[in-house]
Amino acid sequence: MLQLAYLAVAIAVGVAPIEAALQCKCLPGQSCFPSAAVISAFEQNLTHPLINPRPIANVCFPNDPAFNQAACNTVKANWNNGAFRASNPNTLQFINWESIINSTVIEQCDPFGNVNAPADFCFQGRVPFAVVNATTVSDIQNTVQFASEFNLKLVVKNTGHESLGRSFGESSIEIWTHNMQDVEFSDSFVPLGAPNGTAGIPTVTIGPGVQWGDLYDIVDTQGKVVVGGIGAGGTVGAAGGWPMGGGHGILSPFFGLGVDNIVEETVVLPNASHVTANLFTNPDLFWALRGGGGPSFGILTSVTYMTHPAEPVTAAFLVANTTTDEGRLALFTEWVAVHPAVVDAGWAGFWPYSGTQFFLTLMALGDPPTNPAANATLQGFYNNISQIPGVEITLEVTKAYTGFHQWYEDNFINSTNGIGFNYTVGDFSGVPVAVASRLIPRENFENNTVALAQALTALDDARPFLVGGGAVSTVDPDAMSVNPAFRVMLSDLTIALSWNATTATFADISAVRQNVTDLANGVRVLTPNGGAYVNEPDILEPNFQQSYWGDHYPRLLAFKQALDPNDLLIVLQGVNSEAWDDEILCKTV
Ligand SMILES: Cc1cc2nc3c(=O)[nH]c(=O)nc-3n(C[C@H](O)[C@H](O)[C@H](O)COP(=O)(O)OP(=O)(O)OC[C@H]3O[C@@H](n4cnc5c(N)ncnc54)[C@H](O)[C@@H]3O)c2cc1C
Ligand SMILES: *[C@@H]1O[C@H](CO)[C@@H](O)[C@H](O)[C@H]1NC(C)=O
Ligand SMILES: *[C@@H]1O[C@H](CO)[C@@H](O)[C@H](O)[C@H]1NC(C)=O
Ligand SMILES: *[C@@H]1O[C@H](CO)[C@@H](O)[C@H](O)[C@H]1NC(C)=O
Ligand SMILES: *[C@@H]1O[C@H](CO)[C@@H](O)[C@H](O)[C@H]1NC(C)=O
Ligand SMILES: *[C@@H]1O[C@H](CO)[C@@H](O)[C@H](O)[C@H]1NC(C)=O
Ligand SMILES: *[C@@H]1O[C@H](CO)[C@@H](O)[C@H](O)[C@H]1NC(C)=O
Ligand SMILES: *[C@@H]1O[C@H](CO)[C@@H](O)[C@H](O)[C@H]1NC(C)=O
Ligand SMILES: *[C@@H]1O[C@H](CO)[C@@H](O)[C@H](O)[C@H]1NC(C)=O
Ligand SMILES: *[C@@H]1O[C@H](CO)[C@@H](O)[C@H](O)[C@H]1NC(C)=O
Ligand SMILES: *[C@@H]1O[C@H](CO)[C@@H](O)[C@H](O)[C@H]1NC(C)=O
Ligand SMILES: *[C@@H]1O[C@H](CO)[C@@H](O)[C@H](O)[C@H]1NC(C)=O
Ligand SMILES: *[C@@H]1O[C@H](CO)[C@@H](O)[C@H](O)[C@H]1NC(C)=O
Repeated sequence: MLQLAYLAVAIAVGVAPIEAALQCKCLPGQSCFPSAAVISAFEQNLTHPLINPRPIANVCFPNDPAFNQAACNTVKANWNNGAFRASNPNTLQFINWESIINSTVIEQCDPFGNVNAPADFCFQGRVPFAVVNATTVSDIQNTVQFASEFNLKLVVKNTGHESLGRSFGESSIEIWTHNMQDVEFSDSFVPLGAPNGTAGIPTVTIGPGVQWGDLYDIVDTQGKVVVGGIGAGGTVGAAGGWPMGGGHGILSPFFGLGVDNIVEETVVLPNASHVTANLFTNPDLFWALRGGGGPSFGILTSVTYMTHPAEPVTAAFLVANTTTDEGRLALFTEWVAVHPAVVDAGWAGFWPYSGTQFFLTLMALGDPPTNPAANATLQGFYNNISQIPGVEITLEVTKAYTGFHQWYEDNFINSTNGIGFNYTVGDFSGVPVAVASRLIPRENFENNTVALAQALTALDDARPFLVGGGAVSTVDPDAMSVNPAFRVMLSDLTIALSWNATTATFADISAVRQNVTDLANGVRVLTPNGGAYVNEPDILEPNFQQSYWGDHYPRLLAFKQALDPNDLLIVLQGVNSEAWDDEILCKTV
């Protein structure tokens, strides 16, 4: 594809050399690449020596100099451990993005393959050639400066949860933010540049390496909660990709999206300046940072979030089995029909389903719920579905928790005390993945009830997040760059498929990717006013600019082009990525 495009250019311009029509990143081994002495001088400017990582499973290959069976056993034992993958510079959560996968090669470092075959190697793949173990803002500034000067391919890795591989890259240099773990509370935070007399509010300011599970523990000790991501083990980053793309969580219907809770950010820009962004200082940058996608508008060095008082919550858990297709469709039709009322009655949460099983994991503020409609609305749904032939409720529990933190610990961290859907089974890490998402607007639950139920039941397995409505829906959609579809959606449907990394061919992988896109399409076509979530991207997402940003895209693009004229921080399906190949190594137009 790429080569054909080059050929077309060469023919069109006749005698001009092909290279003249191209603009590529400077890669190791090329004459443009900095010498060892220059790299060493750069290294002197950093707080830590550069790391030159190999893929973590290199110790498993007898033909690799680093071969070490004991170390290999440790790597294999941790292969599916999300926290382990989050805490290393040379691992991602989804292993397909550690590999180069294209129509001619699959270059991976798979410890479960035939490591004794002479032809099998631990390939470097998309693991960066150098990593800056950043601990200070200057580390990040120096690296941005250096990568700019030599036109290097720069990537930013925090926890590696991103599902398009944007935190790694072939022949790239990586800024690794994991060790920037500052957490600081304020009772009366006033944004820089706010008018005199602006009242301070309670906040927490965190470094870019902080992860949600840790932050939840820390804010709980202060009697506070923050709106954050919800994943098994709590390893998603709190100040990297999550806030850059929008950020949703179970508390969003009560307190807003992640971006709605950001009071101030500090960021290293593509020209290496370190600046503050909030409503009063660099407001255009602040607009772009709140939803434009990481790391397109700079590298976050801190995020200041509002905190909210912790209060008791009530959780509702349901497991329903269906024994017939008719029963399954009738159950989903009831659920779709009641979904807006359930949101309006103050419930948030998840409604994963798989095969014949349908689950609810919901939460309302208060014990009992402060919203007077909460109990009757949900109980009415339970009563209705219990009458449907072919539907069997196998678990129905309503339980009060002292607060969000206890609910989270019990169901997502130590699930011994969990109820209903088991979120810690198969912490989805160390596997290859293809993902799609769809933000489903309220109007579709109301106006296309049966069609939406049919589209949902066409999927064997999905993980919808009920994180919309309420406080998410009352924010001006144009107040920040985040997808305006978030303001009208009620639930975010996510689909993920995996494959066997050891045995899959390129054709197999392409088929799975196409399958995810096709599966999502049933819901996509029904929801023209919906969108997709840039933090749950589909590699084949049609018209990704519209899907991820709706009518905010033109403003984001213009701002990006002015902010980053040398395309330092471009990522696949990121703002202004159109002119680049998928690996962001060369321009294609
Ligand atoms: C198990 C799991 C659970 C999830 N749960 C939720 C959820 O509840 N709610 C939700 O909204 N999303 C959720 N997500 C999606 C999540 O928001 C994205 O995966 C997000 O990109 C992760 O960001 P990260 O910083 O942790 O990861 P990384 O993969 O390290 O980074 C993600 C992207 O942000 C960039 N980036 C990283 N650090 C910075 C920085 N300091 N400045 C600028 N850019 C940076 C990276 O270059 C990359 O492009 C979940 C994902 C998984 C896998
Ligand atoms: C080291 O840092 C100084 C001061 O920021 C800068 O002028 C210089 O260019 C840097 N050197 C390298 C090799 O990055
Ligand atoms: C596949 O990747 C390899 C390794 O980077 C590269 O040499 C080859 O040109 C790529 N093939 C295609 C079709 O992109
Ligand atoms: C990165 O820096 C941290 C903080 O100083 C240090 O603890 C850690 O060992 C370093 N990691 C690597 C892989 O060098
Ligand atoms: C705000 O307060 C500072 C310090 O008291 C003062 O110097 C400044 O003039 C004030 N600005 C306005 C706009 O009142
Ligand atoms: C519900 O379905 C699951 C999966 O099909 C099955 O394991 C379980 O036994 C069923 N439970 C009941 C109560 O029928
Ligand atoms: C509604 O309240 C009753 C009485 O407290 C309780 O038994 C029931 O579980 C509640 N239903 C839901 C769905 O919360
Ligand atoms: C998980 O909870 C159970 C039951 O409360 C407890 O016995 C166990 O020690 C906990 N495990 C961890 C790792 O905290
Ligand atoms: C969930 O699965 C984990 C891991 O298998 C197990 O320890 C835990 O007890 C399970 N919890 C529930 C509620 O089934
Ligand atoms: C959905 O129905 C409502 C109420 O009947 C109506 O106001 C709205 O325009 C409809 N939306 C669509 C997209 O049909
Ligand atoms: C992949 O397939 C191979 C060969 O069938 C099998 O041995 C291996 O267990 C599979 N791996 C996974 C993760 O399913
Ligand atoms: C697509 O994925 C679904 C769900 O895993 C599976 O049932 C179906 O067979 C797949 N279809 C194709 C064409 O691979
Ligand atoms: C860096 O970029 C910002 C935003 O475009 C600009 O305001 C600032 O003047 C630039 N700084 C330098 C030193 O060029």
